[in-house]
Amino acid sequence: MINRYPPINPRVPHFLHGADYNPDQWTPDIWEEDMRLMRLAHFNSASIGIFSWTALEPEEGRFTFDWLDRTMDNLANNGSTAVLATPSGARPAWMSQKYPEVLRVRPERLRNLHGTRHNHCFTSPVYREKVTIINTKLAERYKDHPALLVWHISNEYGGECHCDLCNEAFRTWVQRKYGTLEAVNHAWWATFWSHTFTDWSQIESPSPIGEPLLHGLNLDWKRFVTDQTVDFMCHEMEPLRRFTPNVPITTNFMGTYPGLNYWKLAEHIDVVSWDNYPQWHQDVTDAERASQIAFMHDINRCMKGGKPFMLMESTPSIVNWQPYAKLKRPGMHLLSSIQAVAHGSDTVQYFQWRKSRGSAEKLHGAVVDHVGNEHTRVFRGVTEVGEVLEKLDDVVGTTTRPEVAVIFDTENRWAIDDLQGLMRGDRGYVNTCMAHYRAFWKQGIPADVIDMEQPLDSYRVVVAPMLYMLRPGVAERITQFVQAGGTFIATYWSGIVNETDLCFLGGFPGPLRPVLGIWSEEIDTLYPTDENWLVLNADTPSDLRGQYKIHSLCDLIHVESATVLATYGSDFYAGRPALTVNNYGQGRAYYIAARTEQVFLDDFYRALVDDLQVRRVIAAPLPEGVSVTERTDGERRFVFVMNFADSERRVTLDPHPYVDVRTGDSVGGQLVLSAFDTRIFEIA
Ligand code: GLA
Ligand code: ZN
Repeated sequence: MINRYPPINPRVPHFLHGADYNPDQWTPDIWEEDMRLMRLAHFNSASIGIFSWTALEPEEGRFTFDWLDRTMDNLANNGSTAVLATPSGARPAWMSQKYPEVLRVRPERLRNLHGTRHNHCFTSPVYREKVTIINTKLAERYKDHPALLVWHISNEYGGECHCDLCNEAFRTWVQRKYGTLEAVNHAWWATFWSHTFTDWSQIESPSPIGEPLLHGLNLDWKRFVTDQTVDFMCHEMEPLRRFTPNVPITTNFMGTYPGLNYWKLAEHIDVVSWDNYPQWHQDVTDAERASQIAFMHDINRCMKGGKPFMLMESTPSIVNWQPYAKLKRPGMHLLSSIQAVAHGSDTVQYFQWRKSRGSAEKLHGAVVDHVGNEHTRVFRGVTEVGEVLEKLDDVVGTTTRPEVAVIFDTENRWAIDDLQGLMRGDRGYVNTCMAHYRAFWKQGIPADVIDMEQPLDSYRVVVAPMLYMLRPGVAERITQFVQAGGTFIATYWSGIVNETDLCFLGGFPGPLRPVLGIWSEEIDTLYPTDENWLVLNADTPSDLRGQYKIHSLCDLIHVESATVLATYGSDFYAGRPALTVNNYGQGRAYYIAARTEQVFLDDFYRALVDDLQVRRVIAAPLPEGVSVTERTDGERRFVFVMNFADSERRVTLDPHPYVDVRTGDSVGGQLVLSAFDTRIFEIA
């Protein structure tokens, strides 16, 4: 099967290497120097105009494009390109002053003052009109400019507005969804605490001074916020589509940001992009961090079915908003940049090109520091990335087609985070999904990370940790998947509620009960100091060890058609099932009833993939800290070997020649990796 996608914009069949560039903060002499330095850094793009609205429209209706014209020309004259932004991420002060409705209202019904960014109402007709005007001007002016490569819509959409306009739009949304108040009252279980709505006008967005506890309402509000953001984004895109139908459009996402369901935004844009700010060398090992980042890269690849994404932002050195601004150790910049490529990015871009002189981001990492020249460690590191990317033209457009998928679903997360029960605070949904994913990452097994709406038939193994919510059709698709021979793994806290957070009646895990062959009667939340044990049955055929530590959550289940593989080691439920498997149709469905230590997941999935002969990118076991991925077009195969450990590691390669893409050397047998080493091979 041929899997090569066209380049992001076919005009540039190379990896993009670039950064957020703010010439509007600087003077023309600096612009010249910027071009010289960008050439030295092997840049071929710059993301511009991201927060430039006031520089473009200093007074209502008066436009100043000269500086942007110059910037676009400079880029084109230097053989570079523009990822050109629409400026809606922050608005001019004159606008907030003249039209206060453009400012956001908080859940407490308090309108913000002018300031920061992402501080605008997505519903406001005035804001929408102003956005249309500036976006139209940009599209008209630069539609034929040779530098224009990609549109960058706004910046990191996020947040919500509770103004009257938004509340009115929410009521309309609810009415369109449910039709009758009776249906709303049922879906939200509004009889509870006498919440029954008797008039549409009584529906209000969730608020700490009003109603924060109607979970169905909360969920629908979050869905509305996503839909309204999508609507706003499409409104932004309209003039761009009209004037530049062939210029691809993206908007930059923020990893596992909980405020939006990115899958819904992704449908409307041409290419997915995201901003990646890992905390290296900090509270968790770099290997664990790398697996978390890999998980997020994979989401971004999956949102368009495997199509390469853009790493829109990453820091060339430090991040100024994290708890500690630790420097990346030698090797980590290349490693972290190539990790994105290894998971499907066709760009490596940074925030920011030049450190700003003042204000909040003057101490954030940049390619060019305040010293103003190329003689820095960071500049050399960035240049090295540029040099490597120039050798990867043949990787552009390739992808990976995993046999394994992990379901990580935003609406499910909303519902789990919002419920009253289990324990206060974090119920660990994100970390749990990442922990299951990590077991595959450690073995060099590519995995997709998808939401529960995606088709499952291309996979052999589907893992769905804590699938608390089941939207219509999901249980049916999972059941068909297993019926047809797939292997499905579910955990505790699955199949509890439907799409509006109403509990399934008749026994958990609701509609997954037949395929899993179990009934969950109760769930026990452990105190942080409690522990229990998952004890493997003596006759369970696998290389799982004898027993594994359990913490946090223990589901008390009964087997119906399933077989017990392990039981609880202590407490009043000692001896009851803790791990089961159900043969169903041609496939199998496992149920992991408790939250375990990572080593159980590692061992469990290793035994499973050995049994199913799921393909590893490299057959031999990988040492701790080493990650291996591949990208292919179906014929040519590129393998990325990355050492996230701070000491040497050895990897036994498969018995065919690996050609090092950077040096052209052929490598075989044992590969020796130094600390934070990055190697890219084509398999000959
Ligand atoms: C975000 C923004 C950038 C910048 C960086 C700093 O990702 O999009 O404008 O503020 O954070 O890390
Ligand atoms: Zn609003």
